[in-house]
Amino acid sequence: MRWFFFLLLLAPATLAVNFPWESVQLSKSDLVGYPDIAFGDATSSNATYHGPRCKVGPVDPEWPTADEWTRFNETLGGSLLKPIPPGAACYPGPNYDAAKCTYLLTTAAFSRFYSDDPLTILTDWAQGGTCVVSPVATGNCTQGGYPVYVVNATTVRDIQLAVNFARNRNIRLVIKNTGHDFGGRSTGAGALSIWTHYLKDFEYIPDYEIDRHRGQVARVSAGIEAWELWNYMDKHNTTMVVPGGDTVGAYGGWIAGGGHNSLSSYYGHGSDQVLAFQVVTADGRYRSVTPHQNADLFFAMLGGGGSTYGVLTSAIVKVYPPTQVTSLPLSFQGVRLYQFFAPTVTDAGGTLYSYVTRITNDSYTFTTTFELPNTSPSQAQALVASLFSALNQIGIPVNNTLPQSTASFAPAARTGAGDMPGNTYFGSRIFPRANWDNETIFNATFAAIRETVEAGYTFHGINHAATDKVAGYPGNTTSISPIWRNGLMHADFFDYSLFAPAAGGFGPAPPTEPQPSFKTGYAKFNSYMDLIRKATPAGGAYYNEGDVQEPGWQAAFFGGNYGRLVQIKRARDPWGLFWAPTMPGSERWVVEVEGKGDGVPSQNGPLCKSGSGWGEEERKE
Ligand SMILES: Cc1cc2nc3c(=O)[nH]c(=O)nc-3n(C[C@H](O)[C@H](O)[C@H](O)COP(=O)(O)OP(=O)(O)OC[C@H]3O[C@@H](n4cnc5c(N)ncnc54)[C@H](O)[C@@H]3O)c2cc1C
Ligand SMILES: *[C@@H]1O[C@H](CO)[C@@H](O)[C@H](O)[C@H]1NC(C)=O
Ligand SMILES: *[C@@H]1O[C@H](CO)[C@@H](O)[C@H](O)[C@H]1NC(C)=O
Ligand SMILES: *[C@@H]1O[C@H](CO)[C@@H](O)[C@H](O)[C@H]1NC(C)=O
Ligand SMILES: *[C@@H]1O[C@H](CO)[C@@H](O)[C@H](O)[C@H]1NC(C)=O
Ligand SMILES: *[C@@H]1O[C@H](CO)[C@@H](O)[C@H](O)[C@H]1NC(C)=O
Ligand SMILES: *[C@@H]1O[C@H](CO)[C@@H](O)[C@H](O)[C@H]1NC(C)=O
Ligand SMILES: *[C@@H]1O[C@H](CO)[C@@H](O)[C@H](O)[C@H]1NC(C)=O
Ligand SMILES: *[C@@H]1O[C@H](CO)[C@@H](O)[C@H](O)[C@H]1NC(C)=O
Ligand SMILES: *[C@@H]1O[C@H](CO)[C@@H](O)[C@H](O)[C@H]1NC(C)=O
Ligand SMILES: *[C@@H]1O[C@H](CO)[C@@H](O)[C@H](O)[C@H]1NC(C)=O
Repeated sequence: MRWFFFLLLLAPATLAVNFPWESVQLSKSDLVGYPDIAFGDATSSNATYHGPRCKVGPVDPEWPTADEWTRFNETLGGSLLKPIPPGAACYPGPNYDAAKCTYLLTTAAFSRFYSDDPLTILTDWAQGGTCVVSPVATGNCTQGGYPVYVVNATTVRDIQLAVNFARNRNIRLVIKNTGHDFGGRSTGAGALSIWTHYLKDFEYIPDYEIDRHRGQVARVSAGIEAWELWNYMDKHNTTMVVPGGDTVGAYGGWIAGGGHNSLSSYYGHGSDQVLAFQVVTADGRYRSVTPHQNADLFFAMLGGGGSTYGVLTSAIVKVYPPTQVTSLPLSFQGVRLYQFFAPTVTDAGGTLYSYVTRITNDSYTFTTTFELPNTSPSQAQALVASLFSALNQIGIPVNNTLPQSTASFAPAARTGAGDMPGNTYFGSRIFPRANWDNETIFNATFAAIRETVEAGYTFHGINHAATDKVAGYPGNTTSISPIWRNGLMHADFFDYSLFAPAAGGFGPAPPTEPQPSFKTGYAKFNSYMDLIRKATPAGGAYYNEGDVQEPGWQAAFFGGNYGRLVQIKRARDPWGLFWAPTMPGSERWVVEVEGKGDGVPSQNGPLCKSGSGWGEEERKE
């Protein structure tokens, strides 16, 4: 009896798993005679990066030999992949395959091909453009900014092995879920990649008690995509907060970075949904994280970003009763009046999506959709009545007809088909509520947006307000930037010309005017972003949909939380094992981009010490 009790006291850390594959863990017997997979100790005074200036790549003598990779693969039970970039089919050489190249350029875009590929990321430029799927491919396809090896993870043990091997051998480590990240955060030259894509388990629990929460929850794995959650919501007659795009991963970069959704003003951000999660940290250990256990990680990993503190394997998240949403799709002139009206909608729990695009020098399109959860069509009609009459007064002929109301979950099963690489590059701004509170300031804000749109940049605004109150507990204890909490709108500004077809990729529609180089085009774009920044001095930016070259990104992306986020990074990962651009503590490293690259901030080059941010302990070496 006493012995049993003793076991119970010692065991909880390993018992707290959400799914059976999380019980498959690295054991003591695995480690015998194999120092490459030994655990680390972050509290040791010797815990720091011990390798050469740059992390070890395939060209370096320290790179593991073929036999060492084979041994590693055997220990993994065969889950190590060495993938060739899909685009190789379009290039002269041994992998040339005209039929496959045609498929990649056509049908693949309507299938799951790119989503199920271990290397593909949806933002081509981040890879360095060395093997773009193209009908006019020339030169040689090379691995470029793609990783060399990929662990196709299906157990916690797979992830622990990858973490320990990369740390002990000074190899660059990346984590890829869906590859949707717009800044190259899920790829890296010469890297070993942990691919979380096949961690797909889901369990709906109608009644569950955890911390202060009592009610519906779901256990979710790291690889689940939004479309799969829509199907689960349908099946269980519930609502969850999930990403907008069907193939976006819900429990990788999206929850780590905040994650917005059409229900954000009503139920909070993606990271506000998490009650507990499981993670493999940089030392290789598997840990349970709640607001009370490993609380530093609960704070840091919900808001502080992916690929920085550990590999999240699963979580317990909030689930809501089925929530009807009333939608009003509209297209009209009168953008200023519309924006001025926006807080009325967000304060009622609604979210507004809008686009303004210049068609010719003086004609624009403006489209918007109002999303109003738990609001009946007639309530919605009443809510927007004053906007419509104001528009009518200035001669804009819009009719406030009775809108439609639909369940927030899908009426038909989704398949997750679609999505292909492109070349999106944009600037992001979170606009604080203060910019609406004073009409002089509002007018100045609006003038800056107008000037930017008139210069040819597309504006995509999402008016929503996931305040601390909306987030509730424990969402309001995470590291989501306070700027998000006080924001009334997130907007992206696109320059569709930055990567127009010269790169050979499919990307956006070809522009009609001659294109500047990336460097020149970017400098001009950024000067317009500066107008927006100046108009929103208390604002910030959202790194999941922002610019990896955002000036002063630490404050813009993380606000007042940045200092604490770096402290936690140093304590949990003194080795600098996890790295992605513009994440907390990432200043210590820099990608030395191969070739000139025209200033494109890609991941195609070795990851090297930047010489900054290493502090006292490093200078002693
Ligand atoms: C079509 C499209 C639609 C989008 N819609 C929305 C939207 O509606 N709302 C919104 O807020 N954003 C949206 N985004 C942006 C989205 O939030 C980011 O692209 C996000 O990075 C996607 O996360 P992922 O895990 O799917 O992608 P990945 O590119 O695979 O990963 C993103 C980052 O998270 C890290 N990561 C992934 N998994 C883990 C893990 N298990 N543990 C630790 N780190 C991990 C990666 O290393 C990387 O740094 C959209 C993007 C696209 C391309
Ligand atoms: C510190 O750790 C590194 C890498 O694990 C090892 O090579 C080195 O010998 C250690 N140094 C000391 C002083 O223990
Ligand atoms: C790893 O082992 C599996 C099973 O033997 C094999 O199919 C796979 O090709 C190996 N991976 C590498 C990179 O050699
Ligand atoms: C492509 O690779 C071949 C063989 O390595 C080499 O001879 C050739 O110069 C390369 N071509 C280009 C354009 O780099
Ligand atoms: C990765 O693992 C999953 C699950 O075992 C398997 O279905 C899939 O085919 C694997 N992918 C590759 C490219 O080997
Ligand atoms: C779904 O749940 C709602 C309320 O919780 C209930 O009114 C409705 O009947 C349910 N629908 C189905 C199909 O079970
Ligand atoms: C559009 O505006 C630009 C810059 O002001 C000008 O150079 C160009 O001639 C204009 N184009 C047309 C079609 O008016
Ligand atoms: C608005 O309603 C009036 C009267 O029904 C109709 O004539 C007009 O075309 C409508 N306008 C729009 C923009 O739908
Ligand atoms: C609004 O802002 C302007 C410009 O900063 C300022 O001069 C004015 O006093 C403010 N008005 C109010 C009512 O606060
Ligand atoms: C703001 O702009 C509107 C529309 O141009 C104008 O009617 C209003 O007077 C302006 N308000 C202030 C305080 O400048
Ligand atoms: C978080 O929300 C809970 C519940 O709404 C509230 O009791 C608590 O005071 C809030 N904490 C913070 C830090 O805002």
